[in-house]
Amino acid sequence: MSVHTSRRGEVTVDSLAAMKRDGRPIAAMTAYDASFARLLDEAGLDVVLVGDSLGMVIQGGSTTLPVTVDDMVYHARCVRAGLDRALLMVDLPFLSFSTPEVAVANAGRMLKEADAQMVKLEGGGAQVDTVARLTECGIPVCAHLGLKPQSVHKLGGYRMQGRDEASARAMLEDALALEAAGADLVLLECVPATLAEEVARNLRVPVIGIGSGSGCDGQILVLHDAIGVSARMPGFARDFLADAGSIHAAMTTYVADVRARRFPTGK
Ligand code: KIV
Repeated sequence: MSVHTSRRGEVTVDSLAAMKRDGRPIAAMTAYDASFARLLDEAGLDVVLVGDSLGMVIQGGSTTLPVTVDDMVYHARCVRAGLDRALLMVDLPFLSFSTPEVAVANAGRMLKEADAQMVKLEGGGAQVDTVARLTECGIPVCAHLGLKPQSVHKLGGYRMQGRDEASARAMLEDALALEAAGADLVLLECVPATLAEEVARNLRVPVIGIGSGSGCDGQILVLHDAIGVSARMPGFARDFLADAGSIHAAMTTYVADVRARRFPTGK
């Protein structure tokens, strides 16, 4: 499989920052293989994430915890083969960023072996040093806050985060600290819409939301939720394939709805 292809008109960290400045919402989606990656790229997605959600939607597990760095590299190489324009972001799986140097080694594999342009890691203030070290090494980072599926056993389930005043303040402070450490993007999963909007307003870098209302700088969904093939559809997701007739049309509709802020509806 060839990696490190030359790409024209590709989305970069800078172009995502410019989208935030211009008020143009960013459309992102997960993918795990080349065929779907190509469909998403052709539909105009800006960011394609190889999520460790693959532990659930591809491997059939009940959590993301068993996913390995090798799994991520393999699927990231598959997705890279299908992309021409979209920015390729890859998750660092559970325990693959337990220290800054471990994070550098594993994130380095994503960039060197799969030609990823950004890594994503779950964590709040505790990851500030890791984000700073990755940044020093020239590795773009997305910090994932809110519901962190890798911490499911600590959280006691997959539920909305930042509902009370203290945890909402802590999340905003974490987001600011991670941005100061060099994070290029922040992802908020299952956070109250008012809090997500406040975080997006206070950060210079783009904030992408999932299940976090319409006030973020962009949206992301798990592909299998967006085409209605997940075993359990989260309440915030929408089956874009139901009315579209083809996966390409479904993805084109998703991009148009995110750009026009028709998805998600309501606050
Ligand atoms: O792993 C994943 O697919 C994610 C999404 C929830 C954005 O992190």
